Amino acid sequence: MSGSTIRVLIVDDVAESRDNVEKLLRFEPDIQVVGKASSGREGIDLAVALHPDIVLMDLNMPDMDGIAATMQISTKVPTASVIMMSVQNEPDILRRAMLAGAREFLAKPFSLDELILAVRHVSRLAPRPVQVVTTAAATGSPNGRPGEVSKGRIISVVSSKGGVGRTTLATNLAVAIRRATQKQVVLVDAALHFGDVGVMMNIADGKTIADIAPQVHSLDRDLMDDVLVTHGSGVRLLLAPPTPQEAETVTAEHLRASLSLLTKMADYVVVDTRPGFDDAMLSVMDASDRILLVLTMEMTAIKDARQFLEITELLGYPMDKVLLVLNRQNTFSGIPAQDIAENLKRELVAKIPDEPAALLRSVNEGAPLVETQPDHRVSVEIKRLATSLVAEDAAEEAVVAKPAERATGLVGRLRTALRHG
Ligand SMILES: Nc1ncnc2c1ncn2[C@@H]1O[C@H](COP(=O)(O)OP(=O)(O)OP(=O)(O)O)[C@@H](O)[C@H]1O
Ligand SMILES: [Mg+2]
Repeated sequence: MSGSTIRVLIVDDVAESRDNVEKLLRFEPDIQVVGKASSGREGIDLAVALHPDIVLMDLNMPDMDGIAATMQISTKVPTASVIMMSVQNEPDILRRAMLAGAREFLAKPFSLDELILAVRHVSRLAPRPVQVVTTAAATGSPNGRPGEVSKGRIISVVSSKGGVGRTTLATNLAVAIRRATQKQVVLVDAALHFGDVGVMMNIADGKTIADIAPQVHSLDRDLMDDVLVTHGSGVRLLLAPPTPQEAETVTAEHLRASLSLLTKMADYVVVDTRPGFDDAMLSVMDASDRILLVLTMEMTAIKDARQFLEITELLGYPMDKVLLVLNRQNTFSGIPAQDIAENLKRELVAKIPDEPAALLRSVNEGAPLVETQPDHRVSVEIKRLATSLVAEDAAEEAVVAKPAERATGLVGRLRTALRHG
């Protein structure tokens, strides 16, 4: 952004639409329309010439559609953030727009408030640092050895609320998978600013993902091996940066590249995350084979989980990509687990008991419970989850690579068709 004015370029093939958007923005003192383009190609040229902060991009245009134009703008003018505008808002379109580099999506018709909110919100986001991916498959392929293929499965542990037990689950799950399989397991701490994996695993210091950030374009096995810290359980850790300031240097692209490489180096990559749908978290979720959504027995957590599920549907994720894990199950919440499952219309794949004393001690000792007390009922449930995830992976491998994604993608589309029809 230049000074405090947000400079906006409007790209739309319909003159009336361009003028309407311009009129809506006219009275905002902090927003200035610096250019208007009537085609995707003209939009790219003007973006290169004017370096706007925001590009309001129509999706359907005759010569080059908004997605193709966004891809080019994301590459040529990475400081410009694109907001896609369209009457179509099917998950597939949203997903393609985001993969092309759009930062926000405005469904037409939109109100003045929605437009202003989107422009201000996106202008506050950090600019995309480098080129974004262009297709779902092109998730970066930093490679250790030529011809090497991905074998690892990525399991991310997410939540829409903080403090629900993501790190507790991620650390214990990684150790449980390692103990059950003796395979290569890497635990990535993608809760970049306030990562707790090191503390929970009693690793006082060591290299972190921030150490490989400057070499993201030449990332290889040797560099990765050098930053991974090996825990006593055999799980290898890609730790979060030691300070929030250093975390700022780690971008979505770094995470994408790191995860892509780690799937070639390990059998299982477990990722601890932070709440939210920023670029970094989206890149983790996109790359994941399974997303474990953790929630507790609180109305707020249940409501947030529902919203989270709705967003993953909009993103076009297959339904079985996101699995619900209930944490801190107890009998005093007043909401039976069964009701939560019914309310969210999803099965709870694990119900981890509420055991504050054992887990508090485990955090303070820096020792995962599945290691120190493998027969504790919390450990038993996490081990059961680990075994079922491992078994399900083995079953999928036996059929064909990722069949579920294809099948349920269709289911997802059918569900969308049902919603719109
Ligand atoms: N099953 C459980 N029973 C009782 N306490 C638990 C359970 N799981 C986690 N806790 C406790 O809840 C607290 C938060 O857990 P944790 O740090 O794993 O959550 P988080 O979602 O990673 O939080 P943050 O938002 O800080 O990253 C910790 O004190 C932990 O010991
Ligand atoms: Mg945490």
